[in-house]
Amino acid sequence: MSIQNIKTAHLVHDLKNPVNIIESGARSLLDKQDRYGNLTPKQEKVVRRMLRNAMRLRHLANNMLEVDMAALGVLNLVDCTLSDILRVAFVEVFDVIDPAVSEALEEAKAFDKFVGILRANDVLLEADLGQMTCPINVDETKMTLIVTNLLSNAFKYKNKSVSLRASLSDDTIELAVRDDGPGIPETYHEKIFNNYFQCDKVEGFPVRGHGLGLAGALALAGAMGGSLSICKSQQGAEFVVHVKAVRKP
Ligand SMILES: Nc1ncnc2c1ncn2[C@@H]1O[C@H](COP(=O)(O)OP(=O)(O)O)[C@@H](O)[C@H]1O
Ligand SMILES: [Mg+2]
Repeated sequence: MSIQNIKTAHLVHDLKNPVNIIESGARSLLDKQDRYGNLTPKQEKVVRRMLRNAMRLRHLANNMLEVDMAALGVLNLVDCTLSDILRVAFVEVFDVIDPAVSEALEEAKAFDKFVGILRANDVLLEADLGQMTCPINVDETKMTLIVTNLLSNAFKYKNKSVSLRASLSDDTIELAVRDDGPGIPETYHEKIFNNYFQCDKVEGFPVRGHGLGLAGALALAGAMGGSLSICKSQQGAEFVVHVKAVRKP
């Protein structure tokens, strides 16, 4: 690792402490009103927004460290399910778009209910309940980051709807994220995973990032012995990720 990378990684790591303090402070104000005093509805709204953004900052810092770790081949395998991964990813993505939907998704414990809330918000989740709840062993954080990145792009560029197809075979997770937006011209398909690459600005889609999300997601998939690719599509953009996962007996 270069000195510059080490410096950046340490800086990001040290950012996590103050962010955690802001996050737990906001959480205490919301959850322990008997101790800290009652909040008016307006104050509560402001504190919730602060909390959400502290969480986003923590996720961003984690994201950066995970990509750095992936470049060194560091994996953290844990037992989880595909439904855990999808839940965290959708809760985070909706938090930016519509926090009420995000909260409803977080509370929907049954997978059917979760899928229903998504459908009501123009997201089609095609997945088999048995596969989604089957215990697997995989780097859950890295997998969740890949899905969050693909979903947040799909939401950024969709016209109306987003779809996610998820399946689990003996040892592989396959996820395909599709949207119905302007798509990505085939001439850019090779460059789309390069650091800082962005397509030409499309009228009506003002939000621009930094061109790092897909590059990071590709590094994460690669570190897990998997792949991430863009598909040819008639309409919208579609990305497919394959990652090895050990199915628990
Ligand atoms: N679903 C999508 N539809 C259309 N364009 C996309 C989509 N996903 C990514 N792109 C294009 O690829 C570029 C790189 O994406 P990404 O690496 O996630 O970076 P960022 O989102 O920070 O711009 C985006 O700026 C955009 O031009
Ligand atoms: Mg992005």
